[in-house]
Amino acid sequence: MFTKDAEIIDEITRLKKQRNAVILVHNYQRPEVQDIADFTGDSLELSQQAAKTDADVIVFCGVHFMAETAYIINPKRTVLLPDKESGCPMANMITAEALIAAKKDLPGATVVCYVNSSAAVKAESDICCTSGNAVKVVQSLGEGEITFVPDQYLGQWVAEKTGRHMHLWPGYCPTHMKILPEDILRLKKKHPGTLALVHPECRPDAKAVADEVLSTGGMMRFVRESPAEGFIIGTETGIMYRLKKENPAKYFIPVNDKAVCPNMKRITLEKVLWSLQDMNYKIIIPEDIRIRALSSVERMLAIT
Ligand code: 13P
Ligand code: SF4
Repeated sequence: MFTKDAEIIDEITRLKKQRNAVILVHNYQRPEVQDIADFTGDSLELSQQAAKTDADVIVFCGVHFMAETAYIINPKRTVLLPDKESGCPMANMITAEALIAAKKDLPGATVVCYVNSSAAVKAESDICCTSGNAVKVVQSLGEGEITFVPDQYLGQWVAEKTGRHMHLWPGYCPTHMKILPEDILRLKKKHPGTLALVHPECRPDAKAVADEVLSTGGMMRFVRESPAEGFIIGTETGIMYRLKKENPAKYFIPVNDKAVCPNMKRITLEKVLWSLQDMNYKIIIPEDIRIRALSSVERMLAIT
């Protein structure tokens, strides 16, 4: 660690105490940001942490929709996103206006919305899900049509697992598109005995050749409990740091070391410090939208 980093961390620690702040960090964040976390996890675990924190300030090191979800659940807290440009291209593949128009074409269909979406889209949906609970969420629904937005690949996988036909929005994650089946097969051949774990956002052909399809939190738990020693990891490479740190006796091979989410990497130690110094960037959602989005998120949390 450079002296400069040590000084920044000291200052973050001091300000965190002064402001009664908690630092929530997604599994894809930079290693040095993961190291200053009060809690590191997947989107479901982070929203559960946001729901129960009694800190005055939540510094959310992730992307915009994750910080928005924290605010939707816990509006009494100040939620800060250290880089306001840290968005999610998949979440931007649907707007509330486009969803309203689609609902007119399929009246009566239940809208299940992946948490990777704006608060306005959540407000137009019936229930939310994350990659960690999507199957459970869809299984909880009664008969009838389902519209799943915005990730077509998570939707395809959930439809397969639940046997439910769903109308899929054509969104996708550009980072997970880089996880290719030929790379998984090549690595499995080169490293016999390893298990390939991929994220549900991956393409169907990549998921078809993997051993397990798991959220990032699911991958952490699976590796901890598995007797296997080696794992081929098909998701954003930021998770490699936590996997290695928590499982030093095991080894991990990324399917593609170019599977990097540039938005997740926008957050740096300096930006976390500036965020606590200047109380930027505050997440604010109009109350009417927040209330309607909350009902989708609460319905999800109730069955998880
Ligand atoms: P997880 O909920 O599995 O952490 O995934 C979030 C995400 O954005 C994946 O790209
Ligand atoms: Fe969005 Fe993909 Fe980045 Fe996750 S990895 S935040 S889905 S762009």
